[in-house]
Parts: sequence; structure tokens; C-alpha cells
Amino acid sequence: MSPLPQAGIRDTALFMLDVFLPTAAKGPLIRRPRAEAVADRLDLDRRAVARMQKLDSKYPAGPLLLRLPFRKQALILRPDQLHRVLAETPEPFSSASSEKRGAMAHFEPRNVLVSTGADRSARRALQEQALDTSSPVHRMADSFLPVIEEEADALLAAAGADTGILDWPLFTAAWHRAVRRVVFGDAARDDVELTDMLARLRKDANWSGLKPRRDNVRAEFRRRVRAGIDAAAPGSLASVLRGKPDADPSAPSDQVPQWLFAFDAAGIAAFRALALLAAHPDQAAKARQEMAGDTSGGRNLPFLRACVLESVRLWPTTPMVLRQTSRPVEWDNGTMPARCGVLVYVPYFHRDGRQADSFDPGLWLQQDAMSGDPESWGVVPFSDGPARCPGRQLVLLMTSALLARLLREDTFALESARLSPDRPLPGTLNHFALRFRVSPA
Ligand code: HEM
Repeated sequence: MSPLPQAGIRDTALFMLDVFLPTAAKGPLIRRPRAEAVADRLDLDRRAVARMQKLDSKYPAGPLLLRLPFRKQALILRPDQLHRVLAETPEPFSSASSEKRGAMAHFEPRNVLVSTGADRSARRALQEQALDTSSPVHRMADSFLPVIEEEADALLAAAGADTGILDWPLFTAAWHRAVRRVVFGDAARDDVELTDMLARLRKDANWSGLKPRRDNVRAEFRRRVRAGIDAAAPGSLASVLRGKPDADPSAPSDQVPQWLFAFDAAGIAAFRALALLAAHPDQAAKARQEMAGDTSGGRNLPFLRACVLESVRLWPTTPMVLRQTSRPVEWDNGTMPARCGVLVYVPYFHRDGRQADSFDPGLWLQQDAMSGDPESWGVVPFSDGPARCPGRQLVLLMTSALLARLLREDTFALESARLSPDRPLPGTLNHFALRFRVSPA
């Protein structure tokens, strides 16, 4: 049993400096605005991708072991390795890695993400049932789509009544109102405190096990989530969990915070997609064409869904997918030890090769035999395999419907970032700083 190729001390240090630290500094569980701004200014994600490419060209086809004093850690460098790791989850590549368990302990210690064995199966099944994972159109779409429509109306009215400017604070407040309604029902619309409480816990979770847990905030948050489930309106996601006690192996109250938390990423993805469309008039025209011919009431908008997929391809909201081996694993050129961390740095795969730096929704629409679909060549914004994001279709449904409503009667001129069809798109796009001037179409 030969060990896997190992990076030298200098290359390990350069990886930490160029890839790991800037990504961790931006905040794995909740984004830190200042770190995001610095990353944007210095285009740090582009530098990170370049570092990964250098490692790939220097070492034999990995996975590559880093030379760290405190833990065993491997880096995935090739799409075939990526697909193997994702397909062979949770055994031997457990998604319940130590740093994820440390992070989730702050607000959802029994979430599916950090569960193993029979518990994981029960929790995954509950998630798939509630999120209607295998349906492109969630069975409760009739409840969700009017919510999106109403909150988008209110958002446009607020932007118009004020300065004609749509910025992140305005957008995210409206998005979270929609999310609380979709998760619990209309009564939760204005429960900003719940979102704020979770934000506080997520800030601690950014430090994983390095930060002590705020047990009283967590207990109060948990109490409110349970109350939200018990009072969930028919047609809301949480209504699926009503009557299921927390003692059940599926641990319902620990599954819901993931929804509230992960919809944040969906909002970021939608806002960036809006920026892409604002900066690419040809693609915006195609979106409007799709909307004009839509007979599905916003349920089936493949082009706008592809725009959101492009947003998360270009700027993945989960830039690091983490696993940990439950036993030694054989690879073509060596053995990965047990309890070894496995890191997939997603932007490296998304920005390597075809269409790397341009906005091309067509990539997601031309799934012919020649090109295959992007996920088959390592573009995995929602991950893949048995732990693939169970909310993928719901995210695409809600964000495409939101974009359709926003673009229906208004145009959005991007006043902040310099995005253009004539230039490579930046490696980092700071969503906090995006600003649009809204005017009637
Ligand atoms: C742009 C939005 C989103 C993106 C890009 C995204 C992406 C991801 C990724 C990459 C994972 C990790 C999978 C892995 O470890 O292999 C994940 C897991 C998960 N996501 Fe999402 N997600 C999004 C939104 C959502 C939403 C809105 C929900 C629920 C309403 C959701 C529910 C989950 C759950 C429950 C898991 C854990 C799955 C498991 O461990 O089996 N996600 N997501």
C-alpha cells in the first residue's frame, strides 16, 4: 500500500494562503461583507484557481495529500476523482466531516449534513419528501409562486418609491420575507428576529469548533423553529413535518434551520444572476422571450433556471465540498488513509476549460451526446451523488420565478460591478455591493 502523492511544505503553504484562507475568511456559513469586498477587489478566487492549476500541473494525478502538521488532508484535482468522492458518499467518503460537525453544532447538530448511518438515511428521506427533490416543480408550487410574486411586487415598489435603486439590503430583506412564508406560512413573514437569531448562530458557526456555543440563543431559536413547525400553514414546507416529534430519528427541528440558512445562498445566486442579465442584453432578451411564451405560470422557465445555474457555476455559493474517509481508500496511485479530510475546491472545476469566464446559459440547455451536461464534466454547484443538494429543484423554481417577475416590466442597469460580455467575468463577485438602477422596460 503506497501512500498518495504528497505536496511539499511550500506548496502546502501556498495552497493554504491562496485557496483555503481566503475562502474560509469569506465565511463558510454566513458571508462576511468585509472579507467578500477584499476578495472582490483583489480577485482572490481567480488567484485560488490559478494555484490549483499549478498544483495539478506539478504533481501526479492525485488526490494530493497536503503536508499539514495537525491533520490528514487530501485535495481533489481531477473530475473523475471528484465524481468518485461524490458518488461514494457517505461510505467511505462521509459528509459528516469534523469541521462540518463543529460548525453545525451551533445551530443544527442533528442535521442530515452531519449525520451518519441509519440517522442519515431517515433525515435525508425527510428532506427529500419535504423538498420534493425529484420534481422539477415542487408539489406546493401553487402556494410558493404567489409568495414570490407578491414579495417581488413589494420589492419593486420599495425600490421605485425610494431612489429607483435596488441594492442588497433591500433585496435580501424581501427574499427572507418570501423564504419565511415558504418555510412556515404567511404568519412568519415578518419574523425578522428568527432570521437574525440564526444569523448570530451562523456567525459563530463560521468558526466551527473554535467558538463556544451560545446554548441559550440556540435553545430559544430551536423553541421557535419547533413552534413554527407546529403552527405551519398548509402549503408550507414545514407543514410536511407537523406531528413528527423531535425524538423521531429524522429529527425534524434540526432539518428546518438548513432551509432558512440555505435559502440565503439561493438569494445570492438570484441577485448575481440578475447582475449577469443586466450586463448581457442578448441573454436578457432571450429571458424575456421565454417569459413572453410561458404558459406554465413561472413553473417551467429553463432559460432562467440556466441563468441561475450559471450564477452558481461562476460564483459557487458552496466553494468547498468536504468529506472525511471512514476507512483507508485505494486510488490508482496510492492509498488515502482513514480519517483523512477530502477537499473539493469547486471554483477550480467550474472555471477550468470550457466557457470558463463567460456567461453562457446555453451550457445547461445543450445536453447532447457531444457536450454532455456540465455536471458530468465536474461542474457541480449543487454537488452530486447521494448527498447532492435536495433543494436544487426548489431553488431553481423559486429563483427563476423571481427573476421572471423582476424582469417582466422593469429593466435593471448595473451601477456597481463592471461585468461585460467583452471581458472575462471576475473570479469573485461581491453580492453585498451590487446595485441596480430600476426603470420601466
Ligand atoms: C443556490 C442555492 C443552493 C446551493 C448552490 C446549494 C448547494 C448545496 C451543496 C453544494 C450541498 C452539499 C452537498 C454535499 O456535501 O455533497 C448542499 C447540501 C444540502 N442542501 Fe443545498 N444548496 C442551495 C440551497 C438549498 C436550499 C434552499 C435548501 C433547502 C430548502 C437546501 C438543502 C440542502 C440540504 C438539506 C443539504 C444536505 C444534503 C445531504 O447531506 O444529504 N439547499 N447544498
